[in-house]
Amino acid sequence: MAKIEPTVMVVGSTMIDMITYSKKIPNAGETVIGDTFALGFGGKGANQAVMARRLGATVFMVNTLGDDVFGDTTVKNFESQGINTSLISRVAGASGVAPIWVEPNGTNRIICVPGANNEMTPEQAQSAVEGLAEIKVVIGQLEIPQEVTIAAFSAARKRGITTILNPAPFAPLDERLIRVSDWIIPNETEFAGMHPRGLRPDSDSIIKELSDQLGCRFAVTLGENGAAYCDNSGTISRVRAPKVNAIDTTGAGDAFVGAFAFGLASGLSDQMAAELGCICASDSVTRLGTQSSYPTPDQAKSLLAQVANG
Ligand code: RIB
Repeated sequence: MAKIEPTVMVVGSTMIDMITYSKKIPNAGETVIGDTFALGFGGKGANQAVMARRLGATVFMVNTLGDDVFGDTTVKNFESQGINTSLISRVAGASGVAPIWVEPNGTNRIICVPGANNEMTPEQAQSAVEGLAEIKVVIGQLEIPQEVTIAAFSAARKRGITTILNPAPFAPLDERLIRVSDWIIPNETEFAGMHPRGLRPDSDSIIKELSDQLGCRFAVTLGENGAAYCDNSGTISRVRAPKVNAIDTTGAGDAFVGAFAFGLASGLSDQMAAELGCICASDSVTRLGTQSSYPTPDQAKSLLAQVANG
């Protein structure tokens, strides 16, 4: 009998990543010579879609691309991986791009220029969610207008579909978006942006404070220290990340979110979904690039087995 794949929908962004690897990051007014350059597929939404797909989910991508060559290659990239592109629209103008600088220790700096991502509409998102029978999880981020994510999540909520918001890059959250999010998953920087006193997630009590304030399920990614999430009893639980040699952290947070969404859609416990997220994120920082750093479907199966076998 054919195995049924969990279905994940991403209502989110696509970008073409323009990644420069450099020993030195320039100060204002300074020019430096970099080491290498790579063009790759990125965008937080697209990355999360790809991670979920590599683990074996059926994935629908909802996005708007420009009518440029970046739009064409982005569609081809999704199709070559078996990601459903029937809900992607095209508009006149430029697709999203993201110039990225990566230092030798793997730290990145990113500027996103959303382009066509900003042309997504609430109607497009709502009808995408309403039009599919089998979705288990809908994921959103902040590289498209919040109104669009609110429409997607509201439609999902009405149908009992789990919604996961990755509030990245940080922007003040619309109250309506918080109310229709089942899970909110920031990284440490986004956490500090959301915390009323700007605190980083340095203790369970600080994490609990923000979690309580948001009033939904909550997890925070902590880089090499793994992740913490608020369990059903309101207690903060921690998940360790495997120790690895990081060479490029770009897209690691997206690997966590895509894998976590796959885990929830597959019926894994919160703990196991968070473990899978940490394993996939740690694995991704050992390779260069964004989607190019993600495991192949076979490698992803082995990572999944690590969680399933305890
Ligand atoms: O999270 C990494 C991603 O952020 C990159 O792929 C870049 O496109 C930006 O969206």
